[in-house]
Parts: sequence; C-alpha cells; structure tokens
Amino acid sequence: MKILLLGSGELGKEFTIAAQRIGQTVIAVDSYENAPAMQVAHGFEVINMLDGEALDKIVAKHQPDFIVPEIEAIRTERFYDYEKQGITVVPSAKAANFTMNRKAIRDLAAKELGLKTANYRYATTAKELQKGVEAVGMPCVVKPLMSSSGKGQSTIKTEADVEKAWNYAVEGSRGDVVEVIVEAFVKFNSEITLLTVVQNNNPTLFCPPIGHRQERGDYQESWQPARISDKDLYEAQDMAEKVTEALGGAGLFGVEFFLADDGVYFSELSPRPHDTGMVTLAGTQNFNEFELHLRAIMSLPIFEITLEKNGASAVILASENSTNPSYTGITEIASLPRTDFRIFGKPTSRPYRRMGVALVNDTLETPIEEVVEKAKKAASLVTVHS
Ligand SMILES: Nc1ncnc2c1ncn2[C@@H]1O[C@H](COP(=O)(O)OP(=O)(O)OP(=O)(O)O)[C@@H](O)[C@H]1O
Ligand SMILES: [Mg+2]
Repeated sequence: MKILLLGSGELGKEFTIAAQRIGQTVIAVDSYENAPAMQVAHGFEVINMLDGEALDKIVAKHQPDFIVPEIEAIRTERFYDYEKQGITVVPSAKAANFTMNRKAIRDLAAKELGLKTANYRYATTAKELQKGVEAVGMPCVVKPLMSSSGKGQSTIKTEADVEKAWNYAVEGSRGDVVEVIVEAFVKFNSEITLLTVVQNNNPTLFCPPIGHRQERGDYQESWQPARISDKDLYEAQDMAEKVTEALGGAGLFGVEFFLADDGVYFSELSPRPHDTGMVTLAGTQNFNEFELHLRAIMSLPIFEITLEKNGASAVILASENSTNPSYTGITEIASLPRTDFRIFGKPTSRPYRRMGVALVNDTLETPIEEVVEKAKKAASLVTVHS
C-alpha cells in the first residue's frame, strides 16, 4: 500500500518506521526539507499543506491508498474530496477536519454527545471575549480556535487580563479564522491521554492511561500507567468511545481528559498518535502507539493491548537557534539501565523545540513516580548545542 504522510515530525518518523517494517511505501510531506520522517521514507514532497491546490497536486501525482495526517495545520476541507475519490483518509475526513478547529470538536463533544467539558464560550472580538469571561467565570483559559502546542493560549485571572489574552490569541492564531474559545479553568488533579484504537472489523481497544505534565503548551514528561480510579477510567473510556465513534473511521486517537474532584472532563483529542504516547516507545506495551495506528488503519486485527512494563518519557529540548544542532551526553544516557532515547534528527533548532526524548521502563511493581524521575534525569544528561 502507498501511504501519503502529511506532516513529517518525530511522530511521523516512528509511524513511517512501523510501516516500513511491514513493507509499506511511505511518501512523507512537510513544509521543509529533511524533516524527520522524510529521512526514513521512500519519497518526500515539500509543500504548504494549508494550500489546497498544492495538496491536490501531490495527491494526484502519488495516487496514495491512504492519506495519514500527522498534524492539524492542513487544508482538511480537501479530505472529503479525497475520500470520494476512493482514498482512505485516516482515521476519516471528518475526524481530521473536525479536530483542526476547536469549535467543531468541542460542540460535537459537549452539545451533540453530551460529554462533560469545561463550561465554554466563543468570541470573535475583545468585547465578545469580555462577555464570554463573564459567562464562564474567572479564572478561565483563552485559546485560538486554530492553534496547537499552546500557541496563543493564556489564562485570565482578572479583568485586566482580557484585552491581553485577546491580542495574544489573535497573534497565535493559525489560518484565516480569528476566533477564540474561552473555557472555565478546570482545577484538575491530573491529566491523562487515553489512547483509543478504533478497528474496522474488531472492537475498540484502550491503552492503559498515560499521565503527563504540560509546560508552555507542550508536554514535558509522560508516564504509563497513570494513577486513576476505576470509576474515572470507565467514564473516560465511555467518553472516548462515544467521540471516536462519532468521528468515524479507524486508527488510534489520543483522547485528552482532566481528572478533577468532581469527575472526568473531556478536553480535546488528536485523531492520530499523540506526543505523550511516545512513552510507549519505552516498551510499555505489546505494540507501541505507531504500530497500533498502522494496524488499525490497515485493518490488521489487534487481538489485545497489554501493559508489559511501567514507563516514562521526558523531552529533550533545544535552548538556542541553530541550523546545525549537535548533541552531548549521548554516552552518558546510553550508560543508564532500562533507558533508551531518540534523537529526531531535526535539521534546525530553536528555543524549546523538541529534539529528542528519553525513555525509561521498569517493572510493573515500580512506583510510577520513580520511573518519571529517572526519565527526567536521563533527559537532563543530553544537551543540544548550536
Ligand atoms: N480549561 C482548562 N483548565 C485547566 N487547564 C487547561 C484548560 N485547557 C487547557 N489547559 C492546559 O493547557 C494544556 C494545553 O491545552 P490544549 O490541549 O487544549 O491545547 P493545545 O494547544 O491543543 O495543546 P496540544 O495540541 O499540544 O495538545 C492542557 O493539556 C492543560 O494542561
Ligand atoms: Mg492538548
């Protein structure tokens, strides 16, 4: 089968490797040359994926069996056409299109499916935002409808923050839409990603929940399994099943939840492998999240997902701009027991860009906090130089 991979970062790279291992052909696409997944794919294309005509051209040129999006910033409206042409869009055109805009997925989850979410409003002007803030109460979180990795996101604590939050969200907005969502701040005790695998001819499966910690809009550490009560887990699984079913198609989804005193809140989801799911590269499961995504897409039955080990991942970040990044501390991290790492091979760095990840596993009896600490220490050994 021929797979057109839209987005060629570290998640795309691992997906491509999984696909190569079972003999599939991958054409990797991104906006710059030598992106991580391009380094391991059969071919590559460099285009602006928000440009519908440019997308049409490469789809016509390569005639793929599958289109696999790795990011949100794609002219996903075109996906409905590709589906009509007989190409399988992963997990479905609707899933990719709905999740590129927070409004579509939030209204589907909260209004149509009745899932519990933070109270929210939308705003297209600073004045409307003011009204929204009054409706949901302070503190509250403002996010552009189209953005990821925390871009344009800020918390409003007092009246005086409203104008600032509006301007910041407009600056951090991707695409042509200038609209924001403002949602009540959820005082959660922890947050989890529930990797949910929707299969074509077999039941939906759930990975053991993944805990994570966010800073500046990006995850810093993730661990598996996360601590969660049976009741909360059942609720999260029920919500994940409902929302993935409504979006349709097959593949792995990363469904994000907040765990608070008053129960589980649905936050958002990725219709594809999730960055926090890189913890599965530590060998925590019988299949990692990329292998699961691939199998689900290709209708290869997944009998079960088993937790083999406890594990944690911690990100390796750059601190400077560079067009020729190099690394020290590799021998040191390699010397650690039960530890592995990835260096993504990104051709350039900038402050806080994720360049690699440390991966640690331990027995199922080891307290997960200990594993997280080991992963953090391991990541701190590696330095990215400019
Ligand atoms: N309503 C909220 N209450 C409390 N914290 C929140 C709320 N919304 C978002 N956050 C915090 O901000 C993080 C990022 O938010 P969200 O996942 O909505 O944004 P994102 O930019 O799509 O992130 P990504 O694409 O990296 O997953 C959350 O993981 C959570 O830690
Ligand atoms: Mg998120």
